[in-house]
Amino acid sequence: MEKKISIAIDGPAAAGKSTVAKIVAESLSYIYIDTGAMYRALTYKALEMGADIEQERELMDILLSSKIELFPSEKGQLVVLDEKDVTNAIRTANVTNSVSIVAKHRKVREEMVKRQQKLALSGGVVMDGRDIGTHVLPNAEVKIFLLASVEERAARRHAENIDKGYESDYETLKKEIAARDKYDSEREVAPLTKAEGATEIDTTSLSIEEVVDRIMTLVKERVEQL
Ligand code: CDP
Ligand code: CDP
Repeated sequence: MEKKISIAIDGPAAAGKSTVAKIVAESLSYIYIDTGAMYRALTYKALEMGADIEQERELMDILLSSKIELFPSEKGQLVVLDEKDVTNAIRTANVTNSVSIVAKHRKVREEMVKRQQKLALSGGVVMDGRDIGTHVLPNAEVKIFLLASVEERAARRHAENIDKGYESDYETLKKEIAARDKYDSEREVAPLTKAEGATEIDTTSLSIEEVVDRIMTLVKERVEQL
């Protein structure tokens, strides 16, 4: 495939976005950008500094003086905040349960979108998040909206936690995921919603491979039309 396009993947928590986005990017030799990691990095830093995450100005002061970098690595995407590896630190329950509050602020989102669009300038990009098809890459040639039942998504996160040796409780995860989806979908600025023209894929009973195959087929069809 010669023509390099942009692929936007949105959807609720634990629908499989980052897993499939990474595989699709690798097989196309595209860059992968996990925008959730950027909101998580800011949340991590704000919590470490004891900032009030309800205050947009406090968050903006932190964000504007922060460098957030994403690097591909064999273990997956490395997240580097002000030259420090925070890849694991941004996945704690503490960060997960605060990130949607940080992500609701208009100015924070404007700055993040600006940075994300800059990262995508070269083309040949797979980007995942909540507002990629609607706001960050509205002209993306392929837009995907990934879904799965909340039970399936909680079960996937639970299995992932157990696998990593973390403590995990399925019912708690289910409640947290449902609460975060509601918050992300109901916020005023760039809420989580399916973009116009996006292809919805319900992954509840699909394997990772099946989801990747469907996306690759859509990408091939789209590239042939160009
Ligand atoms: O991987 P997981 O589904 O747990 O979430 P994530 O992609 O790491 O995103 C964490 C949070 O960041 C989301 O729940 C949203 O509140 C926010 N986010 C956003 O608002 N916009 C994006 N483009 C990406 C993430
Ligand atoms: O990025 P997002 O929060 O949407 O989800 P993820 O972190 O990519 O996926 C959550 C978990 O679901 C991972 O452990 C994947 O291996 C798993 N998964 C799955 O079991 N079946 C799929 N069709 C997709 C993902």
